[in-house]
Amino acid sequence: MEIRWGIIGCGNIASKFANDLALVEGNTLYAVASRSQDKAALFGEKHRAKKAYGNYEAICKDDKVDIIYLATPHSSHMEYGLMVMNNGKHLLCEKPLAVNTAQVNELIYTAKKNQVFLMEALWSRFNPSIIEVLDRINIGDIGDVKYINADFYFKKEFDPNHRLFNPNLAGGSLLDIGLYPLFLSYIVLGMPKEIISKSRLQSNGVDLQTSVILEYENAQSILSFGLETQSNMLGCIHGTLGSFELHDRWHEAQGYTEINERVRVNHSKPTRGYGYTYEIMECAKAISTEKLLSDKWSHQDSLNLIKMCDIIRSQNDIKYPFE
Ligand SMILES: NC(=O)c1ccc[n+]([C@@H]2O[C@H](COP(=O)([O-])OP(=O)(O)OC[C@H]3O[C@@H](n4cnc5c(N)ncnc54)[C@H](OP(=O)(O)O)[C@@H]3O)[C@@H](O)[C@H]2O)c1
Repeated sequence: MEIRWGIIGCGNIASKFANDLALVEGNTLYAVASRSQDKAALFGEKHRAKKAYGNYEAICKDDKVDIIYLATPHSSHMEYGLMVMNNGKHLLCEKPLAVNTAQVNELIYTAKKNQVFLMEALWSRFNPSIIEVLDRINIGDIGDVKYINADFYFKKEFDPNHRLFNPNLAGGSLLDIGLYPLFLSYIVLGMPKEIISKSRLQSNGVDLQTSVILEYENAQSILSFGLETQSNMLGCIHGTLGSFELHDRWHEAQGYTEINERVRVNHSKPTRGYGYTYEIMECAKAISTEKLLSDKWSHQDSLNLIKMCDIIRSQNDIKYPFE
């Protein structure tokens, strides 16, 4: 079965996604949509889409489109996500699925109402190194996990026009990159019983840096993320019998190291393309078997992730003007 994709928002990540889509057999980029017809036409030509729309509504009404990949700023995921699904299209929505728990619930409700597939594009969940490390943790290779240490930093010069620094677009480090370390801890240890966090905010309220302790019954995670510096970007999971270290940048790891009594063994696991290929395959598999959600990254997983973000926001008074 051929899956025909549409893309909404012809920005930075949409371009990388389209490159990866071309690598996955049985999936084609059928249509693209931008707020500008010229931009859609250029993007469509570069990525060999059959149709290029100059608004987002028309692509949702195109009968030939099976699934839409939504790659717009965080603040717009709910509005456009509802439009996609209310037009009967399946949806792969960029992270975060929406900006708060209420919005994520609304998207999930709408997916169920329209009987369409919905998944947050949490691509790291499908990264081969992360999958192998998780499998090995689950069979006890490093014993009981006691400590996770992961960060996500990159240096971005302040630009008031960029979505990352714009509170109206739900900018800031938490929803853009902070959810990756939270995700790592969540997939290994589940929901914490307590969250302790501290953020540094920009004068317009957007978070520049946050550090978090996730407290579990028998373990702790220490996570940090921010926009003003680089970091080593390792994802380290320590158990009573050894450790796994996901290589830099761990959320798109190309391998991992297994550490036991200070002996290090390297495992190379290069991704196909940038690594978006795996979430594309997950969507295609679900659609062709008429499943409405992924087993690996379910609606409940997206809800749990945004619930942690909501708690961190409330602890640090991170507010978006439109809420
Ligand atoms: N999975 C990953 O590795 C990854 C990496 C980076 C970002 N992301 C996620 O992908 C989404 C987009 O990020 P990006 O870096 O691709 O952003 P971007 O380069 O700014 O692109 C976003 C696109 O959204 C559209 N858009 C609609 N309303 C907009 C508005 N009010 N202001 C600005 N743009 C608007 C624009 O497309 P048109 O002009 O064509 O309409 C724009 O090009 C975010 O949810 C982000 O968290 C994911």
